[in-house]
Order: sequence, then C-alpha cells, then structure tokens
Amino acid sequence: MAESVIFTLIFGALVVSIVYFFNLTWLDPRFILIVLFLLILPGLYAAFTSGPFVPSARKRHRTMLKIAELSPQDTVYDLGCGDGRLVFASAPHVKKAIGYELSIPLYLFGKLVSIFKSKKAYIRFGNIWKQDYKDADVIFCYLLPNAMKQFYKEVWPKLTPGTRVISNAFQMHDLKPDKQEDKVYLYIA
Ligand SMILES: C[S@@+](CC[C@H](N)C(=O)[O-])C[C@H]1O[C@@H](n2cnc3c(N)ncnc32)[C@H](O)[C@@H]1O
Repeated sequence: MAESVIFTLIFGALVVSIVYFFNLTWLDPRFILIVLFLLILPGLYAAFTSGPFVPSARKRHRTMLKIAELSPQDTVYDLGCGDGRLVFASAPHVKKAIGYELSIPLYLFGKLVSIFKSKKAYIRFGNIWKQDYKDADVIFCYLLPNAMKQFYKEVWPKLTPGTRVISNAFQMHDLKPDKQEDKVYLYIA
C-alpha cells in the first residue's frame, strides 16, 4: 500500500505543477483527486484481498530461486509480482517469466524496468485469480494465508501435474510441502 501513497504524492505533485505551469487553473482539483483514486483502487483491492506489496527479502528470493531448480525449458509465473524483481531474477534462467500485478503504479514501474531487462521477462496487468496457468512449470507466490487457501481451492486443482509451486512465508492450506527451506515451501502438483 505504501507504493500507492508514494505514487499518489509524486503523481499529484506532477499534476499540480503541470496545472500551474500551463495555467490550467480551470481544471477542478476534485477531478484530479478522483483520477488518482481510480488509479490506486485496483492496488488497494489487491492489498486487502490477497496481499499488500511487501517484496520478498533478498535471502528469501535466493532460496525461492534455489528451491525452484529453474531450467531453460521452464515457464515461470509470479502471482502478484510487485515491482517484478522475482520475474527479472528468473528470466535469464528460463524460457519465459511472467508476472501478474493488479496495482497500477507497480505494474507501470515493472513494465518500465522490463524495457531494460531480459526479453524473456513479461510484466502483465491482471488479476491473478482470472489467469490460466496450464503452461506453468513454476509458480511463485508470496500471498496472505487466505489467498493461499483460495489458491489451493481454485488454482491448484487445475495445474498440470509436475508444476512446482513455491510459496514464501505461508503454507498452502493443509497441504504438506514436498520440501521446505527457511520458510519457503515447495509443492509439486
Ligand atoms: C507480498 S507482494 C509479493 C511481491 C513479489 N511476488 C515478491 O515476492 O517480491 C504481493 C503482491 O501481490 C499483488 N496482488 C495481490 N492480489 C493480487 C491480485 N488479485 N492480482 C494481481 N496481483 C495481486 C499485490 O499488489 C502485491 O504487489
């Protein structure tokens, strides 16, 4: 959620500067506030329903990548990719790495960074619960326990057998992990 506040402040300051610089004083400030609110709304929804943006710590990222045993044939998804750091770290080692993100500021940031990163890294705007993961070899999650429960109910049964799901910090409902290291859990579908 912090990223939404920072985005609102920066974007707001930018808009106010433009308004005064170009003498657009006829522009109603309430209109600007409504636009800003609409821009941060999807991110707020994502934060409250499945998890706010808290990037996995560097050490955890390393453990997640290690436990995933990525190979050049793998298609990797990060469910709620935040600023995309896990997508960018995975991309050089796999066929493609895709991150879905619902927060507009984070999505725009990740998309911008992706220009300078591996061509195999894709940052997409979208709701993680509305996507198809049939081609996934690896799925990374760092989501709240209730979201992991939803994952277990809605996504897990549809995965192709052999898909490796790596969850940071939270276990997948009652399922016993196939491997565990430093609060990173591996489940093989
Ligand atoms: C805890 S962060 C994890 C970030 C990243 N995966 C990592 O490990 O560093 C969770 C992210 O999921 C996003 N998110 C939550 N619900 C989502 C949804 N339904 N669709 C897309 N993204 C969502 C949030 O906006 C947030 O950026």
